[in-house]
Amino acid sequence: QSEAHSDQLEAHELLAKFYHHLLLNTNEGQEALEYMYARGFTEEQLKTFRVGFALPSWDFSSELLKKRKFDLSSMEQAGLVIKRDDGSYFDRFRGRIMFPINNDRGQVVGFSGRVIHSTKDEPKYLNSPETPLFQKNKILFNYHRARGSIRREQSVVLFEGFADVISSNDFVGHGVATMGTSLSSQHIGMIKRLTNQVIICYDGDNAGIEAAYKAANEIVASGLTVKVSMIPNSLDPDDYIQKNGGKAFRQEVIDSSVSLMAFKMRYFRVGKNLQNEDGRIRYIQSVLTEITALSGAVEKEMYLKQLSDEFDLSIDSLKQQLTSISPPQM
Ligand code: UTP
Ligand code: MN
Ligand code: MN
Ligand code: MN
Ligand code: MN
Repeated sequence: QSEAHSDQLEAHELLAKFYHHLLLNTNEGQEALEYMYARGFTEEQLKTFRVGFALPSWDFSSELLKKRKFDLSSMEQAGLVIKRDDGSYFDRFRGRIMFPINNDRGQVVGFSGRVIHSTKDEPKYLNSPETPLFQKNKILFNYHRARGSIRREQSVVLFEGFADVISSNDFVGHGVATMGTSLSSQHIGMIKRLTNQVIICYDGDNAGIEAAYKAANEIVASGLTVKVSMIPNSLDPDDYIQKNGGKAFRQEVIDSSVSLMAFKMRYFRVGKNLQNEDGRIRYIQSVLTEITALSGAVEKEMYLKQLSDEFDLSIDSLKQQLTSISPPQM
């Protein structure tokens, strides 16, 4: 695979180098650089992740590639340029802040480009398309860099996005991101090779909480253990860090992640009004259903006790209710 596409790997490496230079050292990149600094990213972080800037030009990258004797139809297959009807080529990435994406061997195989000013007509992040080298369901952002930390920490932190990985990196070296897509069985396989403990740290908005619930069930089903970090006030990890700092993030969010059951007990509250009886009953039923799936007797007892305390119900009546529930399907 890498033999046949070695020119595509070379092209990605060349462009990553150019984009990075344009961001850090040129007038053309200055607005983008100021935007990144205003967001709180440090020069060191930008260098570590080789963040770059693609000029707002239709042909900067394609002309560079042509000059360096790359075959443009191969560059099209690599997702770097797009072919016009008249046979000429133009740049896919224009006027965007560029995040190189590496495969598990550390080779750049794709890019994601962020607009500086979000508008409704354009995607916030434009990604390389699916190509022979870049398949989103087989790539975790930062996997190759985080490998050592994942082994040392004996866990991996799973984020949604680039900004979360980069801004947490000083205190959380074992972070990777799915880049918005859902977690695939291949992603889980990659994680399994390094550790059996996953800390899910998705965005604190509703979409993030839903996605965390889904991912958590899939990870547990694959035999790994899961904890979930909960970020208050609908913030995402990067927002939290810009507000409270990386050290607080490590202590208050990552190191304070909770068991899957504790997460579910909060998750089941979403959309239920616990002030009224119907909401309460549906909530208790959801939690009891999860409790039937727990293997440890002590664990079961603990969560029953929690329910009994919170809703002023006897443990006996909860236990009686339990026996009428079949375990959840996962
Ligand atoms: P988010 O919408 O949470 O973006 O998407 P973000 O990471 O917080 O980005 P900032 O902070 O506004 O810069 C999470 C991830 O989903 C993917 C990206 O990988 C992003 O980091 N995504 C999002 C896309 O691929 N395309 C999009 O248009 C939006
Ligand atoms: Mn999000
Ligand atoms: Mn986000
Ligand atoms: Mn955002
Ligand atoms: Mn964000």
